[in-house]
Amino acid sequence: MPKTEVVRHRFDALVVGAGGAGLYAALELAKAKINFAVITKLYPTRSHTGAAQGGIGAALGNLEEDSPLWHAFDTVKGGDYLCDQDAVEYMCQAAVETVLELEHMGLPFSRTPEGKIAQRRFGGHTRNYGQGPVRRSCYAADRTGHMILQTLYQNCIKRGVPFFDEFHVVDLIVSDGAARGVVAYEIKTGGLHIIEAKAVVFATGGSGRMFSITSNAHALTGDGMAIALMSGVPLQDMEFFQFHPTGIYKLGILLSEAARGEGGILKNGKGERFMERYSPKLLDLAPRDIVSRCIYLEVREGRGVQGKDYVHLDLTHIGRKVLDEKLPDITEFVRTYMGLEPATDMVPVQPTAHYAMGGVPTDKTARVLAKADGTKVKGFYAAGECACVSVHGGNRLGTNSLVDILVFGRQAGRSIVEDINQLSHEEIPDRAANRAAELFSQFKTNAKNPAAETVGKIREEMRRVMTEHCGVFRTAQGLTDCVSQIEDTVDRLTRARIFDTSATFNTDLLEAVELHNLLRLAWVTSAGAKLREESRGAHSREDFPKRNDAQWLKHTFCELKDGKLAFSFKPVTITQFQPQERKY
Ligand code: FUM
Repeated sequence: MPKTEVVRHRFDALVVGAGGAGLYAALELAKAKINFAVITKLYPTRSHTGAAQGGIGAALGNLEEDSPLWHAFDTVKGGDYLCDQDAVEYMCQAAVETVLELEHMGLPFSRTPEGKIAQRRFGGHTRNYGQGPVRRSCYAADRTGHMILQTLYQNCIKRGVPFFDEFHVVDLIVSDGAARGVVAYEIKTGGLHIIEAKAVVFATGGSGRMFSITSNAHALTGDGMAIALMSGVPLQDMEFFQFHPTGIYKLGILLSEAARGEGGILKNGKGERFMERYSPKLLDLAPRDIVSRCIYLEVREGRGVQGKDYVHLDLTHIGRKVLDEKLPDITEFVRTYMGLEPATDMVPVQPTAHYAMGGVPTDKTARVLAKADGTKVKGFYAAGECACVSVHGGNRLGTNSLVDILVFGRQAGRSIVEDINQLSHEEIPDRAANRAAELFSQFKTNAKNPAAETVGKIREEMRRVMTEHCGVFRTAQGLTDCVSQIEDTVDRLTRARIFDTSATFNTDLLEAVELHNLLRLAWVTSAGAKLREESRGAHSREDFPKRNDAQWLKHTFCELKDGKLAFSFKPVTITQFQPQERKY
């Protein structure tokens, strides 16, 4: 292998990813005048935070009585009691001041007639420990994530935060139990860079692109989680993957739960409001795992619309004024992508892969855990969807992803400020870039073999297999097939070809690298799902239909050891909410 040419940089701290979590961490570092930079594979304002629609949960109580404790209860119950309750309590309390901080940064929230931040209903959010729905979601029409991203980015620019835009991080360097920096690929030139840092934050987002139908943007390929895994860091609770009930049929594009929060109703092929049968109290606003399963059951029992695999979202009674004021983006999506008018037409929807509850394990200070016993990886922090704190347990409540990215993104920044004087630099040798260089070279060499299988074919196969066997409902046989087919695709990818071997903006090469990452996560997800012989939250085993607290009230930790997956377990932290049967 010829010597890899690298460009070198050194900062005290490095934030990887420029969505809500990364930008909030950056603001904290900027305020503390830390020498740092943000590195991101996308231009920051294209980050997936911008796609979040319906709102951010915080018990402001602007329209009716509410409390952070009720929010915490709902979050724990929504997560089917797999959440670490100390982290949930912290998050729900901090949500209130975080939303107010965003308001003071200039975020243009929708308002009540008196000028307070407007709030609306969302799935699983209730008053007084489950008595009925509560208006807790603070929103900016159905563009809440867009507004958060723009506000944070503008504040970063105001504070002079340095960005490496369109640099794809391809490796994390860990030595002697500490993070030392990253290797990154400069998309414009094809050059490799080594960036040394005493502290590294991963805020790299989710991995929904492992499924065929997903609300996730093309960029959500789980790079941070996969890189952490390949660098010896475990992943936690990866078997829990959330399907949002209302994706546009066949496209997966998200139609916010806010549509049901504003009164939208799900109807089956017979025109019945089927959620009445499954969730008499919360109806269409039951937590997502439950609503998605109900849609599948309706379809399976022949009550899909026109006998097909979708149901209807009925917004026709809401009225144009509310649709225009409160749901302008999603109604426009329906017009653009379906050619339907949501004020008068029923909208075909199906569950869409939306959110990874699992990820890089952290404690509630955003410090990354090296092991289930709580040992930390020194100088390594994670926040947002790539992390698992765990505040979502087996199923995340709507609006809590925005709470998570902001509260724990900010916390990651604060933890670094606390730690930085105890952390030190270690010189990273040039050879640290070899692992990435070898991967690139493998794909470029394969490009010379016209008979080789294409990367695109393997990607399609992964998505089909994961959707068929590791989706809303799962079985032992399906998961066994899934794991073995994913292992086969991992092997086949080493021989697969790309077409473009150039250096400049080689997205063909990067998509192959992203698939390399996704396949590892698909492997951990399906192996974890096979291992967990119970049904909890979004993990629904048809062969083990009940939750089994006696054996499975525990987190899974998965490590890659000598090319094999090795699982261990970590107890769930329970403070005040004892596990109960989940009824809505
Ligand atoms: O339905 C939505 O607007 C999505 C929100 C979320 O995932 O939290």
